[in-house]
Amino acid sequence: MHTKKVTINYLKNSKQKLTMITAYDALFASIFDGFVDMILVGDSLEMSFGGKNDTLEASMDSMIYHTKAVCNGAKLSYIIMDMPFGSVISKEIALKNSVRAYKETNADAIKIEATFNNLEIIKHIIDNGISVVAHIGLIPQNSRCESGYHIKGKSDNEADSLLNLALNLEQAGVTMIVVEGVVESVASKITNSLKIPVIGIGSGANTNGQVLVWSDMFGFFDKFKPKFVKRFLNGKELVQKALTNYIDEVKKGEFPSKEHYYKG
Ligand code: KIV
Repeated sequence: MHTKKVTINYLKNSKQKLTMITAYDALFASIFDGFVDMILVGDSLEMSFGGKNDTLEASMDSMIYHTKAVCNGAKLSYIIMDMPFGSVISKEIALKNSVRAYKETNADAIKIEATFNNLEIIKHIIDNGISVVAHIGLIPQNSRCESGYHIKGKSDNEADSLLNLALNLEQAGVTMIVVEGVVESVASKITNSLKIPVIGIGSGANTNGQVLVWSDMFGFFDKFKPKFVKRFLNGKELVQKALTNYIDEVKKGEFPSKEHYYKG
């Protein structure tokens, strides 16, 4: 449990595995704060909470709204704001939106889904004083153009290209890399080749840490469950059981009882 604000130096020098979880509001951010090293305000909120099929509808306004809420609830964990689809498509647009993210929230860093195409844009943002976490491998914002979600690094070509991209991103100055949906041996090689922390999701155990979407890992989101998700709680079942108790007690007139009354 952290008692002081987590800094990038702490994350870079930690000898222990790092933990990251998503949060989208002050309430849950305050529950997770200090337990995990990092909280990610992911655009996954479009799917887990917005009921959408992908993350593409997230906007700068909505990401800023949710990041502000998370920053209100969390004072210890390192906070990362996801940059939504279309928000970093040119140097000018990317810098304007990244500066906005820093000015309007207390996020410690922003996260960008990275390819060779936006490497120079990412460098431009970093050169202007903003910490960037790069997200590589299976990048969810590509799901429409790739017709779904596909594991990356299966061929030698793809594996080499991912390693090369990670090395270039480190060279450009990114703070950390999130590696999603990458075969375990490739994620492992990337981790061993970089000095900055590599955080995995669906990429095996040999990265410097792990990230999961909270509603997946606590069993609230059950539309589908990717192979890499472990349910640490049966959240939906527990909430529905409590809800059934509430409904029963209201119907039987057992709730509210005297202890919940105001006396005149
Ligand atoms: O949006 C998100 O929650 C993410 C994680 C899955 C890494 O990008």
